[in-house]
Amino acid sequence: MGIFGSSKPTTFLGVDIGGSSIKVVELANEKGRARLMTYGYLELPPQEAGDGLFDQPKKAGELLAQVCKEAGVKTTQAMTALQASSVFSTILALPKTKDPKAIKPLIDAELGKLAPLPVSEMITYSTMIDGEKGKEEEKKRSKEEEGVKKEKDKYTRVLVTGAAKTFVQKYIEIFKTAKLNLQAIDTESFALIRALIGKDRGAIMILDLGSKRTNLFIVEKGIPFVSRSINLGGDTVTKRMVEQMQLSEGDAERAKRDLGIAGGNGSLPKILEPIMQPIVNEIRFAFQLYANMELTEIKRVEKIILTGGSSHLAHVPEYLSETLNMNVYRGDPWARVVYPKDLAVVLEEIGPRMAVAVGLAMREME
Ligand SMILES: Nc1ncnc2c1ncn2[C@@H]1O[C@H](COP(=O)(O)OP(=O)(O)OP(=O)(O)O)[C@@H](O)[C@H]1O
Ligand SMILES: [Mg+2]
Repeated sequence: MGIFGSSKPTTFLGVDIGGSSIKVVELANEKGRARLMTYGYLELPPQEAGDGLFDQPKKAGELLAQVCKEAGVKTTQAMTALQASSVFSTILALPKTKDPKAIKPLIDAELGKLAPLPVSEMITYSTMIDGEKGKEEEKKRSKEEEGVKKEKDKYTRVLVTGAAKTFVQKYIEIFKTAKLNLQAIDTESFALIRALIGKDRGAIMILDLGSKRTNLFIVEKGIPFVSRSINLGGDTVTKRMVEQMQLSEGDAERAKRDLGIAGGNGSLPKILEPIMQPIVNEIRFAFQLYANMELTEIKRVEKIILTGGSSHLAHVPEYLSETLNMNVYRGDPWARVVYPKDLAVVLEEIGPRMAVAVGLAMREME
């Protein structure tokens, strides 16, 4: 705490709890710039993870405490994100009103029609899309856009996210066990936007290729308009290699990582086709959804930023780029972070896995 009494902590811990992994990143806020203090992660072999860490909150909490201890984490101020696959999210267009309180019942009424659970069983969070910033941008619009603007003036767009109270309770339990002070629960989409997109106002897809899941988000002007999650990921590939090549789990994992090194002719290894095909279909479907959404403006996605550990799979960026005929590249979550030069090689390797945790630790710096 400074002499002048600001009690606001200056370092924050981002905690990403995945299907079978825990990752933490501690960042210090140095006059608005993020400095890496420490990081740590733990990955459980599939047989130990069972149905996922969330089904064992106590165990997950103990493991989280262990990861923090080993990494030498100093702060107890933590942020986390709900897994995209457990989050319901929608964009609503609501009539403009001067009284912010008047909007809540309207949101609940709309949610009652759309959400998979009764509103009373969910924790929801609303983000106004057309805030003051939106007004600034409207001023810069060209004349052709004026007609569209007039139509849009009648309503305000609200992003609503929600999750089951019972699920949120599990996060609270995990952090209590780990003796961390959970400051906020975010979504993976917003964490990834902070870590990988920053202030870019374009229409961008973030494709997060994880172990059990692949998440995709289409972000327009910093807001996720499309969020989808499918049960396919790096573990699907490992499993196929175990079955087809009769390898042990450990050997299959190593062989998978070596696919890129083994080379081939620069094209996607055959073993990856069955997982990449459905992902490509899902990407195309998401593009269509986005283009047809009434509430969006840009309509055409300009590039795909890859993240997640499985974005390291051999030739995946090139394959997606050729198949979809667009710019596809791996994002760098450390790009907006100050860190010691000698860590550069390690950080580059683990970057795709740490992106959510980095974005969470950045939350209070905005
Ligand atoms: N160099 C590599 N080459 C290929 N795959 C890799 C490499 N490094 C990590 N992976 C894979 O990345 C996956 C882990 O990625 P990540 O940490 O993003 O997933 P997760 O967040 O734990 O999972 P999920 O988001 O599905 O819950 C594992 O399947 C792992 O095998
Ligand atoms: Mg993940």
